[in-house]
Amino acid sequence: MATIHDEDGKASSREEEEVKKVPTQEEGGLFSSIPLVQHGNFWISPHLLKSIQLVQEEFVPRATDVILATFPKCGNTWLKALAFAITNRSRHMLADHPLLTHHPQDTVPFLELPNRQIQPLSELEAIPSPRLLATHLPFSLLPASVTAVGSRVVYMCREPKDVFVSKWHFENRVTEKLVVELGLSFHLFCEGVSVWGPIWNHYLEYWNESKARPDKVLFLKYEEMMSDPVKEVKRLAEFLGAPFTDTEERSGVVDEVVKLCSFEHLTSLEVNSTGVSDRIGGFPMENSTYFRRGKVGDWENHLSAEMAQQLDSIVEEKLKGSGLTF
Ligand code: A3P
Repeated sequence: MATIHDEDGKASSREEEEVKKVPTQEEGGLFSSIPLVQHGNFWISPHLLKSIQLVQEEFVPRATDVILATFPKCGNTWLKALAFAITNRSRHMLADHPLLTHHPQDTVPFLELPNRQIQPLSELEAIPSPRLLATHLPFSLLPASVTAVGSRVVYMCREPKDVFVSKWHFENRVTEKLVVELGLSFHLFCEGVSVWGPIWNHYLEYWNESKARPDKVLFLKYEEMMSDPVKEVKRLAEFLGAPFTDTEERSGVVDEVVKLCSFEHLTSLEVNSTGVSDRIGGFPMENSTYFRRGKVGDWENHLSAEMAQQLDSIVEEKLKGSGLTF
């Protein structure tokens, strides 16, 4: 029977009935919510344990690295596209841009991968500086050397109810035959049990780090990116060490980058809307999986007012005193 285990493999005290409805790892595959194991303050997929260890032991960060960090479904695909477009804009005329023919997920490699034994970390060594890299690792699970050498980190968070809804759709889409009931998934999310959860711990670690070292950790919100993309993209470009010049601003380059990476534009491209790719080894996914609605507030179409209030008050309580609000 599927269940939730702690590091020692002991079943948790969750209600028996609910546990019975939870799919097994074999049924759910890599992206199933369950079973997860606890590692530090986080719930993770057992598939990633080895990879985390390899990243911690073997990843060699550089001072010039920029790591794009997100909790799953907070806009990692968008952030990859933006950071890639900003940092490569002098090399690529927008009319002939790699993002027109390459999926944003293929422009920036992930640090941790379930099959890091097969796709060794040494492949990252071949990337010339300055490197863009991506991760879902919580800050506390990044190697200490990332901070020691002074690599920069860009973190993007998102309103938690929208993250939950996006995650629920994603997991049900990639584990096709298996629909995890929304109520159960929500219950677990509220308890902090989701891949890389609890979401509030993930947010808080990067938030606190961005307050302590603002020159090294930039904290972005999906909703602010959506409401004023030009302002946020300029802020991102400055942090990346590639600020837009006055001439570029006057000639509309910022707007072009925003448009190039917009949900509407990316989803209109064949490379993002058709085909299947196996990016992580043994787990092919449709390229369109990374794009769904790209809206702020879509939770309203899926959660009751009661559920919304429940998650809001948990998040508010967990973030209390930090200065981070939604
Ligand atoms: P929804 O499921 O709410 O639509 P990630 O890239 O971290 O997996 O996050 C996926 C979420 O980001 C999905 O949210 C997806 O639609 C949205 N997204 C992808 N590309 C985007 C873009 N260019 N602009 C805004 N949202 C985007």
